[in-house]
Amino acid sequence: MSTIHAPGPLARLRTDFPILNRRVNGKRLVYLDSAATAQKPQSVLDATIDFYTQRNANVHRGVYTLAEEATAAYEEARAKAARFIGAPSPREVIFTRSTTEAMNLVAHAWARSNLNAGDAVVLTHMEHHANVVPWHMLAAERGIELRWIPLTPEGHLDLTELPRLLDGAKLLGVTKVSNVLGTINDIEPLAEAAHAAGAVVLVDAAQAAPHITLEVASMGADFLAFSGHKMLGPTGIGVLWGRRELLEAMPPFLGGGEMITDVRLDGFTPAELPWKFEAGTPPIAEAVGLGAAIDYLRDVGMDAVRAHEVSVTSYAVSSLGERFGDRFRIHGPADPSERSGVLSFEFTTSGGDPVHPHDIAQVLDSEGVCVRAGHHCAKPLMRILGVNATARASFYVYNDEDDVDALGDALTAVDKMFT
Ligand SMILES: Cc1ncc(COP(=O)(O)O)c(C=O)c1O
Repeated sequence: MSTIHAPGPLARLRTDFPILNRRVNGKRLVYLDSAATAQKPQSVLDATIDFYTQRNANVHRGVYTLAEEATAAYEEARAKAARFIGAPSPREVIFTRSTTEAMNLVAHAWARSNLNAGDAVVLTHMEHHANVVPWHMLAAERGIELRWIPLTPEGHLDLTELPRLLDGAKLLGVTKVSNVLGTINDIEPLAEAAHAAGAVVLVDAAQAAPHITLEVASMGADFLAFSGHKMLGPTGIGVLWGRRELLEAMPPFLGGGEMITDVRLDGFTPAELPWKFEAGTPPIAEAVGLGAAIDYLRDVGMDAVRAHEVSVTSYAVSSLGERFGDRFRIHGPADPSERSGVLSFEFTTSGGDPVHPHDIAQVLDSEGVCVRAGHHCAKPLMRILGVNATARASFYVYNDEDDVDALGDALTAVDKMFT
């Protein structure tokens, strides 16, 4: 089935992504797994190749032209990342490998020098393992207490008990956007309550940075983390932003080259921010690629990115709802303006049998449609939802209504196969 519709305003962007020209299993590639990792536009690929073919050298070390150009390119990427999230200074932007590494940096360098037995860390039931496991590890090591903000049946944070949960807490760790439910959390009031209780606020922006304008100051965050690969950039590059006073007071995370001003037989003096937290050769070409991804998103405009996401998600919710009724059931808020373009769903055949998410993903793959099936690194949430796994389709700038129709057609194939 194919529905007649006007192409969205970003439909032209598709041609910027070379991988979308390939075919999979004899079918047009329909990539609906951008929440796991996004595809890369030609400009990001070009920037990475240009770095390696024209400017490759290690950074902060050489006095020769190539090394100075490499250093300038790396630091320019940091400045772009700082502007992208409204950070007051690039000195507050630390390049990491990923969101996961950024969260671990906070759990090691900030938490291990600020938290002791009996201190409380508040998390939510919708956190990704990256914002759960580092705190479990710290709890096991230090005896800190973990408290959890529960969810409403619609998949929003249930803030009824927030004052009690925050009472005496030292840190609130919360995702801006759920990678399972798509829920967009309003960080500002949470941060206000956390600060009033004396807690710092760590925001997981892995699913937010690709889609939503982020302004760290107005949001009230103290730390914020995101990954380049989910926002059109390369893998192996992430960002931790932190408030300068907090970062200044923290000890280094990893030790080695690059992160020192002096090393003696009897000790060392760490480098200034942000290099204090960047031990060893950093991901240079990856940072340059991230800079190009930020340029691309800025050119499109983050408001247009978000508007496109809402439009494709609305179309998906309504058209798949019309086609399959209750047999296509999504987790999380029903209103597309309250959610991201992540659709975790259950699918039931016309014979009334639920289809396992892995079976859905496999049949969809045979139709050229890539969706994720599994626990999405959110096992606590899966348990709360009462499922082992979900199938998840996620949309980005290069997806359009045709992709949603292809998903619908492929689900019809699932129905045929399992009825
Ligand atoms: C909400 C959220 N947080 C953290 C992560 C971890 O990101 P990375 O694997 O790039 O470290 C992900 C990745 O799926 C995510 O969706």
